[in-house]
Amino acid sequence: MKQASNVRDILGAGNPVDRLGRPLHDLRISVMDRCNFRCPYCMPKEQFHEHYRFLKSQERLSFDEIVRLARLFGSLGVRKLRLTGGEPLLRANLADLIGDLTGIPEIEDIALTTNGVLLAQHAVDLHANGLRRVTVSLDTLDKEIFARMSGGFGALDQVLHGIDAAIAAGLSPVKINAVIERGINDHGALDLLERFRGMPVIVRFIEFMDVGNRNEWRPETVVPSRELVARIKARWPMHPIAENYRGEVAQRWRFDDGTGEVGFISSVSQPFCGTCSRARLSSEGKFYTCLFATHGINLRDALRSGATDADLLQMIRGTWLERTDRYSEQREQLRQARNPAEQKIEMYYIGG
Ligand SMILES: C[S@@+](CC[C@H](N)C(=O)[O-])C[C@H]1O[C@@H](n2cnc3c(N)ncnc32)[C@H](O)[C@@H]1O
Ligand code: SF4
Repeated sequence: MKQASNVRDILGAGNPVDRLGRPLHDLRISVMDRCNFRCPYCMPKEQFHEHYRFLKSQERLSFDEIVRLARLFGSLGVRKLRLTGGEPLLRANLADLIGDLTGIPEIEDIALTTNGVLLAQHAVDLHANGLRRVTVSLDTLDKEIFARMSGGFGALDQVLHGIDAAIAAGLSPVKINAVIERGINDHGALDLLERFRGMPVIVRFIEFMDVGNRNEWRPETVVPSRELVARIKARWPMHPIAENYRGEVAQRWRFDDGTGEVGFISSVSQPFCGTCSRARLSSEGKFYTCLFATHGINLRDALRSGATDADLLQMIRGTWLERTDRYSEQREQLRQARNPAEQKIEMYYIGG
């Protein structure tokens, strides 16, 4: 490996900004490639079957490796970490990792996204180790639809119990991510609000995305946020509110009666590539500059072959400087070019 100049010189050159003027601010770290669900939109059973080759434990980044990389990312401008997976709570002793990550001075915010099944048993420990907020994925309150949307593995009661336990442990407000698919769970979307309005919970509706092209995504299965906004407003008046920070992915609306807020993540109908400052680190240590990227930079092999901090910083910084990804914005054009007969998705702004 070519030796990099020293750490001070690299950091002295300033935080990297990509070719489209976007800084590196957020890092999503997958701590576990396995999952205890098989949501058809994410890990369909047919593909992630019992003989699927998940990573062996030594192939995953160790906690020490994750912390070292998070520290380096922090020195290049990352302020926010999100632990995800697979299912992050399947990783043994996850709370210890959180404790170590909270010790990185540059990191201002650590979040966790989980399917919630194991949350009740870990909530207190996670909070005690410094976690302050959690996002739970929950698409429906209907038991049968829940079973279908989790690939038959999930237990709705456990997830609801996990949400209560998270609130009780001080991980609030809890955010709930609900992926809405037309004809599957769209008719029950308002039930989620009915249940959680007035509680320290923010429900966020996510447009179904064609992640990885392996989930039988079709344009007509996307429920555009604008449609949901209209349905919700007709039942509970609400108004758009300002984003918490530049580049926030969810558009926020507040109920007029003061019972809280609801978010919309419109990745399909209103892509937010223009302000995207998120990088991804996979469980096996590959660094990706876009959720949809198929090629990642192998930081694990570099780490394990003796790379210095300066080497790693230069790899990360150099990759970000070259970044041009805007897949979500281009996806509609690519899709139409591939198949002009397919239904068009209208792009629009829903406010907030
Ligand atoms: C990949 S999961 C990993 C963390 C954890 N297992 C969970 O489900 O929260 C992270 C988030 O991605 C969302 N997701 C997965 N596939 C998606 C898709 N095709 N479209 C939209 N969101 C998706 C999930 O609903 C979840 O909120
Ligand atoms: S629980 Fe999360 S990681 Fe697991 S299959 Fe569902 S969305 Fe994917």
